[in-house]
Amino acid sequence: MGAETMESPSLFLCKGLLLTAFLLTCWNAPATAELTIELLPPMVAEGGNSVLFVHEMPLNVQAFYWYKQRDSTKSYEVARYLTPTNQSSKMPQHSDRKTVFYSGSLLIRNVTKADSGVYTLLTFNTEMESELTHVHLEVHEPVAQPTLQADSTTVTEAGSVTLTCFSEDPGLSIRWLFNHQGLYFSDRMTLSQKNSRLTIDPAKREDAGEYQCEVSNGYSSKMSLALQMSVASE
Ligand SMILES: *[C@@H]1O[C@H](CO)[C@@H](O)[C@H](O)[C@H]1NC(C)=O
Ligand SMILES: *[C@@H]1O[C@H](CO)[C@@H](O)[C@H](O)[C@H]1NC(C)=O
Repeated sequence: MGAETMESPSLFLCKGLLLTAFLLTCWNAPATAELTIELLPPMVAEGGNSVLFVHEMPLNVQAFYWYKQRDSTKSYEVARYLTPTNQSSKMPQHSDRKTVFYSGSLLIRNVTKADSGVYTLLTFNTEMESELTHVHLEVHEPVAQPTLQADSTTVTEAGSVTLTCFSEDPGLSIRWLFNHQGLYFSDRMTLSQKNSRLTIDPAKREDAGEYQCEVSNGYSSKMSLALQMSVASE
């Protein structure tokens, strides 16, 4: 066993602790669960909401401060919260879209690209020990609206028609809708080109109606405008 393996348990316990006391207190600290911050949902696009969710907030927490920065610089402070009295104060980086909770979590509504960056939570316990924990929020571009086109919007009964869903990113998952509900695929329908192309052959009267496609990348989705399809008798 080298020195590294000997040191790691203490480094783990001391991580982020700004100790005011002797380092030995750290060696003897009980193995308490570590404070972590989880992003909920894990990925967010512009316009969505993000919760910087705090797990394992110390039970003896007296106050916590949130910063939109890697360090605890006051001009980057979002809000501070005094736990014993439930008093919160808005700081320079605060906005109406941000809410801090008793649990320590921070909610940011209607996120923009400018909300991306490192957030820091500074907590103080009854011993006046402080701890810094970071989380990186990345706000993604929402997907662009897809365009739905048909080779013809009037198909003759027993004829065939192909609808194509055009989106900027070919890797997106595609869902088809018929009259504003998930399309029920009959055996006369085939999907091709990674679900972006729908062929109906032979068409029947019951296929007449409004078609839409919806593209999604897991954290944002957009629906095309509706395309009206009519089926004329032979
Ligand atoms: C602070 O808020 C929490 C959660 O809403 C509540 O359980 C607690 O009693 C409150 N404390 C005070 C002093 O109001
Ligand atoms: C979200 O923010 C955008 C500007 O970034 C604004 O145009 C829009 O109205 C906001 N939406 C809501 C629901 O507040």
